[in-house]
Amino acid sequence: MEKDNNPARTPEFLLAPMDGLTRASFRSICFDYGADGATTEMIQSLAYGRAKKPMSPTFMEVLVRYPNEHNLAAQLIGSDPAAMAESARRLEALGRFDAIDINMGCPARKVVGSGNGAALMKTPDRAAAVMEAVRGATTLPVRLKLRLGWDAAHITAPFLVEQAESLGFESVTLHGRTREQMYLGPVDTSAIRAICDATHIPVYANGGVTCAVDALAFLRETHAAGVAIGRAALKSPWIFEDIAALSRGEAVAQRRAPERVVLLIRLAALTCGHRPENVAICEMRRFCGWILAGLTGYDAVLVELNHVITLDAFRAMLEGYLDDLERQGDLEIHPELLPKMTLDTVSHRQARRMAKWM
Ligand SMILES: Cc1cc2nc3c(=O)[nH]c(=O)nc-3n(C[C@H](O)[C@H](O)[C@H](O)COP(=O)(O)O)c2cc1C
Repeated sequence: MEKDNNPARTPEFLLAPMDGLTRASFRSICFDYGADGATTEMIQSLAYGRAKKPMSPTFMEVLVRYPNEHNLAAQLIGSDPAAMAESARRLEALGRFDAIDINMGCPARKVVGSGNGAALMKTPDRAAAVMEAVRGATTLPVRLKLRLGWDAAHITAPFLVEQAESLGFESVTLHGRTREQMYLGPVDTSAIRAICDATHIPVYANGGVTCAVDALAFLRETHAAGVAIGRAALKSPWIFEDIAALSRGEAVAQRRAPERVVLLIRLAALTCGHRPENVAICEMRRFCGWILAGLTGYDAVLVELNHVITLDAFRAMLEGYLDDLERQGDLEIHPELLPKMTLDTVSHRQARRMAKWM
């Protein structure tokens, strides 16, 4: 079989799934900026595969796909092969997704405590049974998202990627950390490279990319077929456009206040299409924190946002803020105003939130 992880193949840059964050509305914006593909947030196979009643509207939103989304995989999480297979069948029947993705990377305590997500990396036989069941249940391409292993003493990714290849999986996305590392610490590029060099199916390298320059360096160092980008896209959904510009040898555009404000208003309007307006606007606070960071006075805007609960008020507030910046001729990002927020802050906040509802 011809190798797919080679430099001659046009590399792809995908949006990595992030539970509660990469909903269809956010993904759609990333696709507008040139993302080559994406994956839904994880779908609990035990709940979905066995559901007799219609699912709640909140859950149904996870299954939304916008017309501009392409190469979109629906992600399943679970360790019961029968429930995973049934869920895969149901997802295929929706006729909405281009592939099924299996989650073997989620490190959350409650997830791994029930043998799901990254816990499958400690039980490779069970993991292989899940992969086989899903492969046998759908005619859609099947993908796998995994980490290097449970911990440094249990690096099972080489075995699982081999299984994926022998089962005819379409691709794998490999987060270059173990479950023990959660979202912290160095990503092991050489371990990713060794797997890319050994397998014939495309591997998307994942973990720790902060900007377009990083993404291209990560691609070169790992010999991967592409890169999956998570937290960096939350702060810079335009990262996909930046990567394309850099690849053509062009400079990366500076994203000034008007583009950021228009993006946030659009995201809010799309999000309001799926949830009660006050809930959607409340969710916009964290996106505002990430996307306005570095503009003069953005911290005051975030405080003011705490009192905003309608889309009209949200739009009026951001447009008023933009008018002020325009009057002052101050539309650029000021690096010294950027918070000392790291990508890890994103995962820790979210981990606390997830711990509450799992
Ligand atoms: C808040 C949050 C939620 C996540 N949810 C999922 C998920 O539902 N499914 C999944 O496979 N990975 C999930 N991940 C992992 C990311 O897809 C990605 O592997 C990880 O963040 C490392 O990539 P990054 O450094 O580019 O963010 C999540 C990560 C974060 C921070």
